[in-house]
Amino acid sequence: MTWTGTWSESGSVAEPLVLFVNGRKIVENDADPEMTLLTYLRRKLGLTGTKLGCAEGGCGACTVMVSRFHPQHQRVLHHAVNACLAPLCSLHLSAITTVEGIGSVAQKVHPVQERIARAHGSQCGFCTPGIVMSMYTLLRNNTTQLKMADVEEAFQGNLCRCTGYRPILEGYKTFTKEVGCCGGRGVANGCCLANGNEADGSLTNGSEAESVPLFNTSDFLPMDPTQEVIFPPELMSLSKAGLSGCLRFQGERVLWLQPSTLDELLLLKSQHQDAKLVVGNTEVGIEVKFKNMLYPVILAPAFIPELHAVEHTEEGVLFGAACSLTCVGAELKATVDALTPDQTQVFKAVLEQLRWFAGLQIRNVAAIGGNIMTASPISDLNPVLMAAGSKLTLISTEGRRVVQMDSSFFLSYRKTAVQPGEILLNVLIPYSTQGQHFSAFKQAPRREDDISIVTTAMSVTFVTGTTVVKDMKLSYGGMAPMTVLANQTARKLIGRRWGEELLQQACSSLAEEMTLDPSAPGGMVTYRRTLTLSLFYKFYLTVLRRLQEEEGVDSVEKLRPDCLSATELYHHETPSSIQLYQAVPKGQRQEDVVGRPMMHLSALKQATGEAVYCDDIPMYKNELHLALVTSTKAHAQILSIDVSEAEKMPGVVTCVLAKDIPGSNRTGPILLDETVLAEDRVTCVGHIIGAVVADSQLHAQRAAKAVRVKYQEIHPVIITIQDAIAAQSFFQPIRTIQRGDLEAGFRQADHILEGEIHIGGQEHFYLETNVTVAVPRGEDGEIELFVSTQSAAKTQSLVAMCLGVPSSRVVVRVKRMGGGFGGKESRSTLLSTVVAIAANKLKQPVRCMLDRDEDMLVSGGRHPFYGKYKVGYMDSGKILALDLTYYSNAGNSLDLSLSVMERALFHMENSYSIPNIRGCGFVCRTNLPSNTAFRGFGGPQGMMVAESWMSDVAQSLGKPAEEVRRINLYVQGELTPFNQVLDQLTLERCWEECLSRSNYHQRRAAIQSYNRQNRWTKQGLAIIPTKFGIGFTATFLNQAGALVHIYTDGSVLLTHGGTEMGQGLHTKMIQVASRVLGVSCSKIHISETSTNTVPNTSPTAASASSDLNGAAVQNACEILQKRLEPYKTKNPKGSWEDWVKNAYYDRVNLSANGFYKTPDLGYNFETNSGRPFNYFSYGVACSEVEIDCLTGSHKNLHSTIVMDVGHSLNPAIDIGQVEGGFMQGLGLFTLEELRYSPQGFLYTRGPGMYKIPAFGDIPTQLTVSLLRDAPNVKAIYASKAVGEPPLFLASSVFFAIKDAVSSSRSDAGLSAAFRLDSPATPERVRMACPDPLSSLCPPAAPGSFIPWDVQV
Ligand SMILES: Cc1cc2nc3c(=O)[nH]c(=O)nc-3n(C[C@H](O)[C@H](O)[C@H](O)COP(=O)(O)OP(=O)(O)OC[C@H]3O[C@@H](n4cnc5c(N)ncnc54)[C@H](O)[C@@H]3O)c2cc1C
Ligand code: FES
Ligand code: FES
Repeated sequence: MTWTGTWSESGSVAEPLVLFVNGRKIVENDADPEMTLLTYLRRKLGLTGTKLGCAEGGCGACTVMVSRFHPQHQRVLHHAVNACLAPLCSLHLSAITTVEGIGSVAQKVHPVQERIARAHGSQCGFCTPGIVMSMYTLLRNNTTQLKMADVEEAFQGNLCRCTGYRPILEGYKTFTKEVGCCGGRGVANGCCLANGNEADGSLTNGSEAESVPLFNTSDFLPMDPTQEVIFPPELMSLSKAGLSGCLRFQGERVLWLQPSTLDELLLLKSQHQDAKLVVGNTEVGIEVKFKNMLYPVILAPAFIPELHAVEHTEEGVLFGAACSLTCVGAELKATVDALTPDQTQVFKAVLEQLRWFAGLQIRNVAAIGGNIMTASPISDLNPVLMAAGSKLTLISTEGRRVVQMDSSFFLSYRKTAVQPGEILLNVLIPYSTQGQHFSAFKQAPRREDDISIVTTAMSVTFVTGTTVVKDMKLSYGGMAPMTVLANQTARKLIGRRWGEELLQQACSSLAEEMTLDPSAPGGMVTYRRTLTLSLFYKFYLTVLRRLQEEEGVDSVEKLRPDCLSATELYHHETPSSIQLYQAVPKGQRQEDVVGRPMMHLSALKQATGEAVYCDDIPMYKNELHLALVTSTKAHAQILSIDVSEAEKMPGVVTCVLAKDIPGSNRTGPILLDETVLAEDRVTCVGHIIGAVVADSQLHAQRAAKAVRVKYQEIHPVIITIQDAIAAQSFFQPIRTIQRGDLEAGFRQADHILEGEIHIGGQEHFYLETNVTVAVPRGEDGEIELFVSTQSAAKTQSLVAMCLGVPSSRVVVRVKRMGGGFGGKESRSTLLSTVVAIAANKLKQPVRCMLDRDEDMLVSGGRHPFYGKYKVGYMDSGKILALDLTYYSNAGNSLDLSLSVMERALFHMENSYSIPNIRGCGFVCRTNLPSNTAFRGFGGPQGMMVAESWMSDVAQSLGKPAEEVRRINLYVQGELTPFNQVLDQLTLERCWEECLSRSNYHQRRAAIQSYNRQNRWTKQGLAIIPTKFGIGFTATFLNQAGALVHIYTDGSVLLTHGGTEMGQGLHTKMIQVASRVLGVSCSKIHISETSTNTVPNTSPTAASASSDLNGAAVQNACEILQKRLEPYKTKNPKGSWEDWVKNAYYDRVNLSANGFYKTPDLGYNFETNSGRPFNYFSYGVACSEVEIDCLTGSHKNLHSTIVMDVGHSLNPAIDIGQVEGGFMQGLGLFTLEELRYSPQGFLYTRGPGMYKIPAFGDIPTQLTVSLLRDAPNVKAIYASKAVGEPPLFLASSVFFAIKDAVSSSRSDAGLSAAFRLDSPATPERVRMACPDPLSSLCPPAAPGSFIPWDVQV
């Protein structure tokens, strides 16, 4: 594999890699072709501000700005780029700017960093540097004319799991010309709401105008473009000096060859026919990282002008194959503006596809040629290029040839007609012609940055002046192993007139031609088949509309007005929002920050990249890396584990197996029913069997793949809840809560209805995956662990158990987490224990941060639930009796599943008073990774079933759902099914406020009118309440501790039992301490949570951490305050520092422990008595959506949320929790789908396939109001818990979708209650709206095939 080419002969001598990072020149003589920019920044340069969230270009956490001088444009261009996919070698002569390069708290923050922080757009902060860099790059390219649409486009490739996005957009709106609604705060200054615009969620109460803004724009640093870091002058000279750009780097496994002329490239390609051309690496990078591919020779054409050229020819626009999609988009947009509409139909279709093609970071580097040559069956460009008749120029040392992109080009799965030795030189995208109509459609689970389910382009050309089809091309992606043309159908339509008859024929022909095997990869077979017809129908209507608009065309069939909306392309509106909360009472001391919207205290550090997360801790000198070995079988006996190959691999130090555990191999948060490392049996795919420790993460991961495990499968393999029911595979006990007389209730009821619903699980998708650094201390078995965990104490005890040492020898330290959401409550210990065993075995520090796919594979998530119900009710809608059965899919161990089921049962009636009720909960044992805590902890699933029967009751009675919900709402003093009295009930107030703020009744009337006028798009509305019990249902966990030290300089070190995962707990605790001690927050510091400061802590969970830890902090501070009191009295004019010093000299103890336990808690299932909860949080939300009945997509139009958080400790943080929880719930109920094979293999192991809500999913109008004057006597400073309760409110979006589906069904003559499972994905929505098109694609009979995926 040696290259003996002609570079030196042609004058092209290989250069060292030269790049600039944050202005610093770096010369690499020995760059590793396999190293990504991200690894280089983090590991080699120590620039840990740039984060790793997924390694597949799907989250944007790794975004940096890459600037290059472009000779063609004679200027510097800046691009946001995913550092996780960019090969280091691809950055020759580039300037990289990372988050550290633009500002720091230590020196000066940049306005982009400051505004996201002050606008409360950073919670856990793990996504923040990436978002900052996307925004920064946008501003570097466009400072004066920025529109919100540009900002939103810039964020298409960034995800945030915490904030719900609204505050990020709000903060960055300040860089644009557009001004949002002030939420009524500017009533005096001509606010739109004060001007009678009450239809938008109005404010009518003058006192509400007292809400102060959540942030003050006048505090912001001004943006001064002249102060920006300049493009390095030396780099400018180097770039202009015409360096060849030639590189040659040989790494451990891969050779990187970067020639500078086309001839050199072709010669190299002829010598290395298997070499991969790499441009954006957005495909090759994924194949190498996730598909175990190895390409020993990489050819990089980055410096070859012909591959980057753009030329306008007589036929169309010719793009060099290495032109980025951003470049293609910009060029086509300019061309569309310059030419006539007749000529640019194809270009517009390409632009429409590019709108939804990946995120900007990917489009900035991914090449058009890369998309074609990957030959993916779901490529978004290939259908357009095929239907348009694009031409490709292929070139080799033998010469060049031009081929047409037709059925002969794509041969089979990822195979093209390109010969070995050939490369793609350029692509011609043709002009459209007169009489031609061209459209492209893409249907994906999520609109932004998602891969297609079905993608298509359609072209029809009419005989001039007629509607007779002269030529037709229909191409589809997602319907075969490669992009295909529906040639048979197209042929049949030639010569026919564009009208109803043609439509009928096209649909029946497409239904025959575009078939799919019922087991086809990707699943959704019936939906995909239906989509081929639905999208054709859209094209048909679109052409009909255009023909009608055209003049001089003969006898066009009339487009029915109620079909018009089906022809509209998705139009995105910039979201607007209102946040309302009660200002602190007049007269509250300025220094008293309780109740004020104080910024998260780490937000600025998070925005500058200075905040240290676990994997940012600098490497110890002798530190090693660990990778897990996991089971590939769901249920099997382990026959043998062979590590011999792995041990021979480069960099490997040792393999860790069960025999290396000095203590116990049993583990689990409650029951010890799991193994730390499987010995003889595995019970799920992803079961941890062992680990490999090596000198780098890459070496460890490669070697882990080389460990050979032999299995013998065990039957049965139980994957789904239905499997578990059939096999009666349940964990014990089976819980029941019962109250009233069920039989009597059913006897009295006017009607009885039965139904069922399945609620899918959910991946936590914390942006920071699980990570542990374990450092043996060298004596007495001591070990220190730095962990991203919500449960330091549990980690400590389980590590101690497996190491066989007392807990006192194990210290667990948690600085902050990049999100937790329950996923790091118990499952984080899976990794920590293994890393601790390895560190203990080697007596060396060991680190492991799981890759996203590993994390998703092993760590479990929210429990899928299946609920069956029988409900008895009166004509009025009043529910008399309810009999419920819940089944949850717990996975292979109990973990916290019993408590999760208990909480589901505690929430089975949601907010409704039901006199006779019984709920029974079965926890299913299956062969999936153990499911676990997730924000809401079973409550959302329990309440979702409740709202399902409620909506069925309303539908069956033909009554408005809000009326039926309203008459069943609890009233003050009533008892829950578990006999807890509801006092301080604010449900009705929340309901009424939500009804009026959302203008519910006006909206309902408008929707009815809209739905009458539109057949293929429907709107829907729903208002949903929630009641959420606060407290751990395991009573002993309702305790907390705090430790407060005051140092002699007056500074205060505060420690408490809670961990910070973005929810702002530390900020709230400092607010509490500041009030009690009467000192400014700036004097109080929280360094970390650790087991050697506050012991035996409960996990930070159950929304109760502010209540519990707040009271413990208050207790400790009050003790100290009392001790200082005499010094204050003695010297009232003295300063805090004086009092502290005087106390110290008097030998007063300036350190205090605080403790708190929630009083009067405890519930007994046997007797159905006692109080499981301290109090309840209440809220109500109303949402409005619009669905596309042909595709199943929906738009979130509006949501109004009214939430009772008592007297908010910090309204900015609480509103952040409400919005973040709501968006996470929106993901749960409408978008996020974990997909498993029938054998229990998880397909969805990264953001590419698993879609959490993105920026574009925020409701277009979002109002959040914190209920006023609702003090809570049961928690610190009259506040209420807020972390979990709002999540369920997002079910209002689900039920609004169901409402819209009902309208579509009613047009189809279906009026009965119907089942809609959660999430309401496009597939489910489309299939719930039957019509003549879907009837042409009947599903295969269940049981007649093995499906690709199963509902678990
Ligand atoms: C997060 C993410 C989102 C994505 N979203 C989408 C999407 O929405 N729609 C979609 O269609 N795709 C999507 N993709 C796929 C991918 O971005 C595209 O296929 C992209 O255009 C590939 O271009 P590249 O330059 O990065 O290819 P590379 O990875 O550099 O190369 C891809 C392949 O093309 C070959 N190749 C490249 N240039 C030539 C040439 N001139 N001659 C011969 N062979 C060549 C390479 O050898 C390689 O086999 C996504 C990918 C990621 C990572
Ligand atoms: S880490 Fe690069 S995009 Fe997620
Ligand atoms: S703040 Fe965005 S992921 Fe946590």
